[in-house]
Amino acid sequence: MRAIWRYDASKQNKGRKNMADGTNPKDIPQSIFQVSAFDPDARSDPHTPLKQLREHCPVMRDEMAKTWFLTRYEDIRATVNDRSYVRLPSKAEEGSLSRRLVDEESGEMEQPSILFLDDPDHARIRLPLAKAFYARIQKMKPEIEAIIDEIIEAAPESGRFDLMNDIAVPIPVLVIARILGVDENRLAEFRDWSEGVILSLNPVRTEEETAHLVRSADAINAYFDDLIAARRAEPQDDLVSDMVALQATGEADISDEELRRNLEALLVGGNLTTTDLIGNGVWLFLTHPDQLEALKADPGLAGQAVEEVLRYEAPVSATSRISPDEREIGGCPVKARQTVFCSLASANRDAATFDQPDRFDITVKRPSHVAFGGGPHICIGAPLARIEARHVYVKLFERYPDMKLADAPLVWRTLPFFRGLETLEVETGA
Ligand code: HEM
Repeated sequence: MRAIWRYDASKQNKGRKNMADGTNPKDIPQSIFQVSAFDPDARSDPHTPLKQLREHCPVMRDEMAKTWFLTRYEDIRATVNDRSYVRLPSKAEEGSLSRRLVDEESGEMEQPSILFLDDPDHARIRLPLAKAFYARIQKMKPEIEAIIDEIIEAAPESGRFDLMNDIAVPIPVLVIARILGVDENRLAEFRDWSEGVILSLNPVRTEEETAHLVRSADAINAYFDDLIAARRAEPQDDLVSDMVALQATGEADISDEELRRNLEALLVGGNLTTTDLIGNGVWLFLTHPDQLEALKADPGLAGQAVEEVLRYEAPVSATSRISPDEREIGGCPVKARQTVFCSLASANRDAATFDQPDRFDITVKRPSHVAFGGGPHICIGAPLARIEARHVYVKLFERYPDMKLADAPLVWRTLPFFRGLETLEVETGA
């Protein structure tokens, strides 16, 4: 039994002998919040406390949050790939983090997207949606790259600017808007709604954040209801029209409410995450000049560079599953209905899987990371995120060969289980 099952960490740690590396048991996190963006230290450096857990408590029980927290690659890969786990939050134990997504009165979650559905509903919706979405991405690849070129060309020619504001934020929102066929005059609103709706994944929201969430959900629902009706009346060359057509032929057995919810999931799911993949990547290149030189010398490395950025600073740092029955993970007894959080950020730095895991190196081919999760719920937007990031990295450093970080503090966002920068001030040559 290699893992430490710990309800009371202080007791468990007392007298532990495997601290030959000098680790003080008190330095080992005892709550998942200590390794999330809530904690100011973990916000700037989540990797040090995650390493402590990986090495000393790879299957941690956080009794306050009522969740297990896994940090080793092998355990995480096995868990996300295991189809017997479930996702529907109402199947989680009372008081757990997953359960907070459930309406207290009804005991259910209002129309979940595929992110929180289980089979057969998950497969019924995901399969036709993925088929139509991938066909669109394929068809629109040149257009997606042209959108990226346009946004990068429109950024300031020289001087200092915020790369998040001028490049990393607008690209994903415009790309997904064009794919879905939503009104491009309302991009600022979509961005605001995305930021509001994604707060549903923040289990400990402030009142103000909850108000933002409710306002955004209402606005986005009304918008998509109108859009679906409009495309049904008059189809256009976009994903909403594709899905309405599949509904009509019976190829997609999806209700209007399910369709709306999942189209919204595409709009919301792809914004913040891809923005962070762009921002984290640019920051990594600017802080690792040898790697930037390698990319400039061989733009063919861009695909591998995207994978290395995803591994090294995963934009989504955790995902979760709910155990349907009693089982063991790493020797620890998991009960039915208990939630299992998987730290994707930690798995991606596990020395048992990755050689020199704390080295950012785009020139070596590494084993597959888990930044997009895995199994039936693996990120549906992964192919799109990859196309966007690959093109951005190459195009950006072509346009700004002398780009460097401006002298400004680095501020990481506070949204738990996500990893991205608030701002990224850069300077470019005259
Ligand atoms: C770098 C960018 C992205 C990252 C790091 C990311 C990460 C993830 C992760 C970790 C999951 C959960 C997987 C699991 O539990 O096994 C997920 C699911 C999902 N993502 Fe992404 N994502 C990204 C981009 C996108 C984009 C561009 C879209 C849509 C346009 C998108 C839409 C979704 C949806 C709808 C799901 C739910 C899939 C399901 O449960 O079947 N994501 N993503």
